[in-house]
Amino acid sequence: MNATYKPSLYDRLGGELVIEAMTKAFYDKVLKDIELKPFFDKTMMAKQVNMQREFLSSALGGPAVYSGKNLAYAHQGRGIKTQHFAKFVQHFLETLLEFGVSVEEADEVISRLNTRSNEITGKSY
Ligand code: HEM
Repeated sequence: MNATYKPSLYDRLGGELVIEAMTKAFYDKVLKDIELKPFFDKTMMAKQVNMQREFLSSALGGPAVYSGKNLAYAHQGRGIKTQHFAKFVQHFLETLLEFGVSVEEADEVISRLNTRSNEITGKSY
């Protein structure tokens, strides 16, 4: 291993099983948030957790290949505003910290999610 080698965020978080557990815990928070819950009223949450786990694994440098829809397409027409996006990401941050992820690593994950905000809120669509 050379001195500059750094494992992927995926590996530093603990791999697939940890990401899956975090994704479940995260959506529990989202569904308890009265502002966010209505967006998921018609959603099959087991499938949603699975898609999000796959997306995160792949976005954080893991081996998974995301098989879902393009993010802009999946979120368009749902009326998701910047404040919804911010709360969503806040719940993810809280989940990471509850799982014992370091502040530095949590910050890296959140920065990566934040790069997708235009696709989610439709500003680029
Ligand atoms: C960076 C932030 C986000 C990421 C990475 C993300 C990721 C995803 C993924 C991977 C899917 C599945 C697409 C598919 O089925 O092929 C999805 C669907 C969805 N997302 Fe997001 N999402 C984000 C933010 C949000 C926010 C802020 C909301 C609303 C508050 C939201 C609401 C939804 C809804 C309603 C669906 C469709 C669920 C269904 O099929 O019924 N997402 N998202």
